Amino acid sequence: MAQQFDLNNFEGLCKLDSTGMIPSLEGLAAQCALAGGDICRNVDLPGFEAISNIVVTGLGGSAIGGDLLRVYAADKCPVPITVNRDYGLPHFVGPDTLVFAVSYSGNTEETLSAYGEARVRGASIIAITTGGKLGEMALQDGVPLVKIPSGLAPRAATGYLFVPTLGILQRLGLLPDLTAELNEMTGFIKELQKKIRPEAPVDENLSKVIAQKLYNKIPVIWGSTGTTEVVAQRWKGQINENAKAPAYWNVFPELNHNEIVGFQFPPEILHKIHVIILRDERDHPRVQKRIEITKGVIKDVVDGYTEVWASGNGVLSRLFSLIYTGDYASFYLAALYGLDPGPIKAIDFLKEKLAAEK
Ligand code: F6R
Repeated sequence: MAQQFDLNNFEGLCKLDSTGMIPSLEGLAAQCALAGGDICRNVDLPGFEAISNIVVTGLGGSAIGGDLLRVYAADKCPVPITVNRDYGLPHFVGPDTLVFAVSYSGNTEETLSAYGEARVRGASIIAITTGGKLGEMALQDGVPLVKIPSGLAPRAATGYLFVPTLGILQRLGLLPDLTAELNEMTGFIKELQKKIRPEAPVDENLSKVIAQKLYNKIPVIWGSTGTTEVVAQRWKGQINENAKAPAYWNVFPELNHNEIVGFQFPPEILHKIHVIILRDERDHPRVQKRIEITKGVIKDVVDGYTEVWASGNGVLSRLFSLIYTGDYASFYLAALYGLDPGPIKAIDFLKEKLAAEK
């Protein structure tokens, strides 16, 4: 068997990285600062109709920002936020809905279809994209356009895809002034980056340690509803796309009512599972108790579990402390498999096949 990649080999990591995932990861704080500043300020916002609900429509790396918004704004925004990952839109969408149509490439067919549907329903729309067909349609339709920089993998553009939704809702009076919290978050991300970047050695680098635990294992990521749920989903997607490995996610308390029963058979597969438990000391105390008890239930059945704790002051910092740690961990896991994290051949293949069958 080939020797396992040495995560302390910085040059080796750079060599694997043909698409510039390393600089993209490093750029997260700068992305957030730009997205919360100039990118948002430069959007022309018309006087929208009264808004009684918000839908973020997008797929994959362009949709996760919607979940971040949903979770983050749940206790701050006076109207409900729904994330839509489909061709159509929920029945409630109408003239009192604000739809964020988000597609990094601007060419994702589900998002283009949902955008068309939002137009038919008379919803207020804001497009977030680098360009593509969505950018063209928004310009043609006079729809406000948040134009973000191109050249990144969508999953490496979370700052550009998520932060503008915050800034725009703030401008529309649907979120409070978030300047201080955003500044705190960008400062926090910069500090965290120093600890988990490729130059930081394995014995001081939590993301590298996590990657080693997940190597040759089936990752199962558990978060908690209303807080780390979005992080669990993000980790799963990042492991899939960067490390080309399967991963599964679920949330407390729901998983205590079904998934937890499934840790009996087949034992040889259960032994290949490594569970990541995303923790936040601010989680509901009963959820924290549930997690403690659940650890005891699974500990002898699975390969092991690793708890990863949120840090930082503001809610945004805490979410990004875990997201960033997982983003880097998935990059290192790709390296352990000897893989370039960038290419996503299976997604490209599907998009090409579908495009050919129009
Ligand atoms: C690729 C990625 C994908 C895309 C998805 C939608 O890095 O993360 O999940 O985000 O295929 O494409 P876009 O974002 O261009 O609408």
